Amino acid sequence: MRARALAGVVLLTTLSLAGNPASASAPARPTPPPADTGLRAVADRAGLRIGTAVDMTALADDAPYRDLVAKEFSTVTAENVMKWEATEPRQGVHDWAAADRLIDFARANRQQVRGHTLVWHSQNPAWVNEQDLTPAQLRAVLRKHIIDEVTHFKGRVWHWDVVNEIFNDDGTWRDTIWLRNLGKGYVADAFRWAHQADPKAKLFLNDYNNEGVNAKSDAYYALVKQLRAAGVPVQGYGVQGHLAVQYGVPADTLTNLRRFEKLGLQTAFTEVDVRLPLPADPIKVQAQAQGFTSLLQACLLADRCVSYTVWGFTDRYSWVPGVFDGEGSATPLDENLAPKPAYAALRDTLTLAARR
Ligand code: XIL
Repeated sequence: MRARALAGVVLLTTLSLAGNPASASAPARPTPPPADTGLRAVADRAGLRIGTAVDMTALADDAPYRDLVAKEFSTVTAENVMKWEATEPRQGVHDWAAADRLIDFARANRQQVRGHTLVWHSQNPAWVNEQDLTPAQLRAVLRKHIIDEVTHFKGRVWHWDVVNEIFNDDGTWRDTIWLRNLGKGYVADAFRWAHQADPKAKLFLNDYNNEGVNAKSDAYYALVKQLRAAGVPVQGYGVQGHLAVQYGVPADTLTNLRRFEKLGLQTAFTEVDVRLPLPADPIKVQAQAQGFTSLLQACLLADRCVSYTVWGFTDRYSWVPGVFDGEGSATPLDENLAPKPAYAALRDTLTLAARR
């Protein structure tokens, strides 16, 4: 055993001497990016927008967090402040302040903004949920909400997640206040209203558990075909990408992205995080790195995957521990902002892509 191990060392030494760029005939070895090169710089060279969800309290109070948002990312998504409950807490009374601050920050740092989200079953204002509005009234308030919000941000939002999480995992329609009262047509209406308010923004569907080819993504595929045939302005398929190491990584993500691209859509990863059952250990942490990179690779290999966004980049502010019992550590940087293997893996993949 020992002799074989030694022989291996000798062989490796020989190989590395042969590949030494100092010898005239050997091809130059690629130089790794300098240690202080962030994801943003390598993603720029790979022609991909890289983004993060932003926690506005952290952005205001935590300077190292703020510096990393600017340095590491070329797009931002409001984690909460563009949701309806935040923008219109009382009927007719808008509060755009926090969202405007994010957009100003993005402008100052030459970043694009993903608008999230116009129509959802969650985080709606209490006055929508609790007022017993008639279907006609609900349609009117939804229309007004979409037109008001998209108009307010007109020209300043790159992508809108127009509808969020409209299907169940088995491909049936999710039972929401919108489906119950307005029927399935609410989706086409929402896209038309958003397009009317800002014809230049790219309009996305968005969901989780829709990475690979499965019942849920099949439902989206059928819907997109129908919407496009009817001339509805739907332009993007958003894949949230909330993975968990214990469930593995969907194998056919690239196949799935490609079939939506063939229908004329752009694609994007919009909320990637890869949680794990706590405590973390080296195997889980490695699986996590693979989860992050396999989605990134699918995006880089697809033809029209325009952005890859993580749902927070540090465990210091991640939503995961508050929602998934016993799970956490879902982002590329730990609570002290130190990079995990996932960070290096993302950067290495982008670096390789930049050389193509
Ligand atoms: C989450 C936020 O991260 C939390 O801070 C908030 O309490 C609940 O919503 N899918 C989505 C996001 O589309 O809007 C959700 O964000 C995470 C799941």
